[in-house]
Amino acid sequence: MSSNRLALYPGSFDPFTYGHLDIVTRASNLFDRVAVTVAVNKDKAPLFTIDERCAMVEEATGHLSNVSVVPFEGLLVDLARERGACALIRGLRQVGDFDYEFRMAFANRKLAPEIETVLLVTSEAHAFTSASIVRDVFRWGGDVSHFVPATVVAALEKKGLEQDT
Ligand code: PNS
Repeated sequence: MSSNRLALYPGSFDPFTYGHLDIVTRASNLFDRVAVTVAVNKDKAPLFTIDERCAMVEEATGHLSNVSVVPFEGLLVDLARERGACALIRGLRQVGDFDYEFRMAFANRKLAPEIETVLLVTSEAHAFTSASIVRDVFRWGGDVSHFVPATVVAALEKKGLEQDT
């Protein structure tokens, strides 16, 4: 019997970091297909638009043949059911992530018991990388190339220029 297991990897990805790339690479080795699901997330005021975030994830994951990118708004488990996904992937960097991730995993399990949350541990190199730190370092003119792929550095620079004008 051939398997075709799809996992969703949801997040805001504002912007997409090397930490995110590390997790999606690990997920792509575990599942037949992975859809990076980019949340519109109206609660947060994102630096990048949904289209810009989808484009940067597409560029950064272009070398992973079983990874696709999907924008989404609404309940994650609804999208998972609609697409036939069996798992939701989230990354864990350090213990501070546990509380939020557990709460989210239990909420999603209540809503959709048949869908598993799979928490993947990031590589040590990215344990302290976060999108908010990247935005802050960039805002103050620091070198973000340690934290994000070159295509995202370019997107940040373009965004900075747009905001200056
Ligand atoms: O990168 P983030 O901001 O930590 O991602 C959070 C995200 C988008 C995965 C989460 O807020 C989410 O799943 N939102 C969709 C609404 C939903 O399904 N909520 C129930 C689970 S908490």
